[in-house]
Amino acid sequence: MKCRKCGDRAVLELRRHNAAFCAADFVDFFRNQVREAIRRYRMFERDEHVLVAVSGGKDSLALWDVLLEDGYRTSGLYLDLGIFDYSVESHAKCEAFAAAHGAELIVVRVTEEIGAPIPVIKDVTRRPPCSGCGLSKRYLMNRVALERGFSVVATGHNLDDEAATLFGSVMHWQTEALSRQSPALASTHPKLVRRVKPLYRLSERETAAYAFLRAIDYIVDECPFAKGATSIAHKETLNRMEDASPGAKHNFLLGFLDRARPAFERVDAVPLNECARCGQVTTGTVCAFCKLAERVKRAG
Ligand code: AMP
Ligand code: FES
Ligand code: ZN
Repeated sequence: MKCRKCGDRAVLELRRHNAAFCAADFVDFFRNQVREAIRRYRMFERDEHVLVAVSGGKDSLALWDVLLEDGYRTSGLYLDLGIFDYSVESHAKCEAFAAAHGAELIVVRVTEEIGAPIPVIKDVTRRPPCSGCGLSKRYLMNRVALERGFSVVATGHNLDDEAATLFGSVMHWQTEALSRQSPALASTHPKLVRRVKPLYRLSERETAAYAFLRAIDYIVDECPFAKGATSIAHKETLNRMEDASPGAKHNFLLGFLDRARPAFERVDAVPLNECARCGQVTTGTVCAFCKLAERVKRAG
């Protein structure tokens, strides 16, 4: 197999692009896909300060690496969820990456913000851990960005993540979720920062290859609560389709974004208020994060 660009020996075949690349040209290809995502969705400008949410996994560290290499002004945000060794190890990976690149890493502990770590929150709510966890992550990313003057948060969601989410929403025709499925969510309120996903065009296999080729040290283990999550089942289904028909995932997601998403665009946007307790945005009176914190306090 030869590299499509230089003709040298290829290290990676990308069947959906009908191409193979050597190490240097794959890294180039990867960065160009990120640039294309940023350009196409006008994710951020050159002079903006971008908050990159990093979990210690391959995707978000690969994203941070690309943005640093391209000269963007960035800081990392690590949310310590208090999930046993998983959090200790993933925190260490983020600290090491930040130190090696001379970049700022902001660390926020969920326990300090809400009164308990994720494993306790899951018992209090008696709901899957990912629900309280996802809620806390979204809330804290936005609040930290606002408090520190960032206008945009970038996450490491990749093509596989986005296609699996889309698949789940389509399976249940969750039209509200479909209207929000996008690589770039605009700010619809002065207290909501933009959220962007510059890796949406790149698969999990590609981000793993990039992290490997760039010698990025990341946490390989998944969160211990991820087992059995429906998103994993959806990813497996999509991967089987991808095996049979390379490009299936890409066509599913990008086809939706280009052709179907406009049909789900909401004109009657829900009115947004400021939470009576914390001042963050909510559709009700008290936001879901403050309600969760209240339940944790009562249970403690
Ligand atoms: P996940 O929801 O775990 O698939 O992660 C999706 C994206 O959310 C990651 O690529 C990160 O950008 C961000 N993220 C997940 N966990 C954390 C964390 N503990 N701290 C900061 N960002 C996170
Ligand atoms: Fe949130 Fe696993 S990372 S429950
Ligand atoms: Zn609140």
